[in-house]
Amino acid sequence: MDLLKKTIEEEGVVLSPSVLKVDGFLNHKIDPILLDEIGKEFAGAFRNLGITKVLTIESGGIVPAFTTALYLNVPVVFAKKAEPSTMRNPKTCRVHSFTKNTDYTICIEQNTIHEGDRVLFIDDFLANGQAYLGIKKLVEDCHARLVASGFCIEKAWQPGHSILKQDGFPFKVLASIRHMSPEEGISWNYDTAET
Ligand code: G4P
Ligand code: NA
Ligand code: NA
Repeated sequence: MDLLKKTIEEEGVVLSPSVLKVDGFLNHKIDPILLDEIGKEFAGAFRNLGITKVLTIESGGIVPAFTTALYLNVPVVFAKKAEPSTMRNPKTCRVHSFTKNTDYTICIEQNTIHEGDRVLFIDDFLANGQAYLGIKKLVEDCHARLVASGFCIEKAWQPGHSILKQDGFPFKVLASIRHMSPEEGISWNYDTAET
């Protein structure tokens, strides 16, 4: 997706060979025009799959998941990273974050995703794919089906891309980074950016 790549090139900051800062338009300060286009792009890609819910994890995934859901005209659910005391029937799953070297729990209220739902997972980054694996377990636990996933940005050399490919479900990446460094900047994948 050209607008996203252009914005990353202009406003993203490569902090290290493995960390891209996107606080200026995606993660902290948010560019509404860009996020609207992202939602349109994902919705177009997954329009024929009979999606009934969009699911993400707080916080970085919420806005792209929301704009996607708006264009698909379905509800969006974001999994929380702590179990709120107000939840009566929480479904939970432990997820390991390699980036942060900790485990965390993702949590949704049982009846937000239910039997028969056809779920689209949307997230800001595909890195290690652990968030995806946790979401998949959570959806199965609700007797629903995870039918596709969409990621705004992937770091293609990290394990997530292979995990998604092996799983065989459709997924789309809007900006696939082949390699990056603070000195040389970003080089893109042009052929593997979507499946
Ligand atoms: P995974 O999501 O593919 O399993 O990978 P990982 O556990 O390594 O990612 C941990 C967190 O770091 C995720 O957000 C993910 O979106 C984010 N992340 C991964 N790589 C980058 C990167 O290069 N730049 C930025 N800015 N973020 C990255 P989170 O911490 O779980 O939540 P939140 O930040 O969305 O609230
Ligand atoms: Na995230
Ligand atoms: Na993040």
